[in-house]
Amino acid sequence: MKAHELHSTVTTDGSLRLTIDPVDLGEPGPDEVIVRIEAAPVNPTDIFLMLSMADLAQARAVDGALEAPVPPGVTKVFAGRLDQPLVVGSEGAGTVVAAGANQQALIGKRVGANGGMFASHRKLPASHVRELPAGASAEDGASWFVNPMTALSFVETMRAEGHTAIVHTAAASNLGQMLVKICAADRVPLVNIVRRPAQVAQLRALGAEHVLDSSAESFGRDLVDAVAATGATLAFDAIGGGVLGAQILDAMERVASRSMKTFSHYGSSTHKQLYVYGGLDRAPMQVARTFGLTWSIGGYLVMTALRKLGPEVMARMSARVMRELTTTFASHYSERIALAQLLEVETLRRCAATATGEKFLVVA
Ligand SMILES: NC(=O)c1ccc[n+]([C@@H]2O[C@H](COP(=O)([O-])OP(=O)(O)OC[C@H]3O[C@@H](n4cnc5c(N)ncnc54)[C@H](OP(=O)(O)O)[C@@H]3O)[C@@H](O)[C@H]2O)c1
Repeated sequence: MKAHELHSTVTTDGSLRLTIDPVDLGEPGPDEVIVRIEAAPVNPTDIFLMLSMADLAQARAVDGALEAPVPPGVTKVFAGRLDQPLVVGSEGAGTVVAAGANQQALIGKRVGANGGMFASHRKLPASHVRELPAGASAEDGASWFVNPMTALSFVETMRAEGHTAIVHTAAASNLGQMLVKICAADRVPLVNIVRRPAQVAQLRALGAEHVLDSSAESFGRDLVDAVAATGATLAFDAIGGGVLGAQILDAMERVASRSMKTFSHYGSSTHKQLYVYGGLDRAPMQVARTFGLTWSIGGYLVMTALRKLGPEVMARMSARVMRELTTTFASHYSERIALAQLLEVETLRRCAATATGEKFLVVA
């Protein structure tokens, strides 16, 4: 079977090349399926892989491809990807149009799938697709994995690591809105940090109790008060750059030290954990260590978290995603685009803005 795939290549001489190329998928093996991709969201992780921080201001169309220079730092850090055409598109949904001998029952089924979803079709092991609930459209199921499973994993990780409340940054994101709904349903205290007054109103309308605006003059005090009110000792930070992560740990320490009976220059014995799970701000992270010595800062990737949580927890989480696909885990898209539009500079610029409520959906 013939298909088309989007490929992102960073060349040794420092340019990004985006192309849409024909590929021959061949016949599916006995336990494989071919999925016609009908809807795939453009998530921040896809933008990062697809564009590799290329300078879109200097992008140009060349023979049906899009080319743009990438900063020298990128070719150093991602030496492993140089000159390789990589498939992009972390998740999506579509219909099984062909299947191997053992998977014939899947033909015609609407499924969610992962990896290389910016394509017309994908050939995948049947075990890698997930049947969507009856009546769900491809658009309903397009964002079935990345944000829902990550948001659910935050709560599971909180329980597994002995915390009782969560602080979350860039909280008006698509993922953040899911987390608000999960935490309300599961009665998990949640401190949402956003950066604009409109986002405060947006999350309040979803039922969030603690929503702090980092641009407000009172933010530092509000953060300490919200940490005290919730008892949060765990934070998930999507921003990464700047001072906010350290400021959250500092607020946790201020609250923890209130209950210390005797002074210690090592700080409180309460463990404070900050997980950085995104890079919305690519500036360096600044950590002024004002919070004693009982803390950790770690990177957080959903796949690693799922492996740690184990197959039973993961199965429970994905069953919940499917049950609540159009409620808790509904995603909203600001624009629907065709695959070919991912080679248009203007479309890419708008996708790359990662603004609240501005998620793009690639549709067949
Ligand atoms: N590690 C993992 O396994 C994993 C898994 C899933 C998602 N993620 C990460 O989760 C994050 C959210 O994903 P999403 O799809 O939900 O995003 P999204 O819907 O595109 O929303 C992005 C949000 O981030 C805010 N934002 C952008 N740049 C910012 C900055 N420099 N400082 C503060 N806020 C900023 C935007 O607010 P404005 O409107 O104010 O710009 C918007 O609310 C992304 O960083 C993504 O990479 C990580």
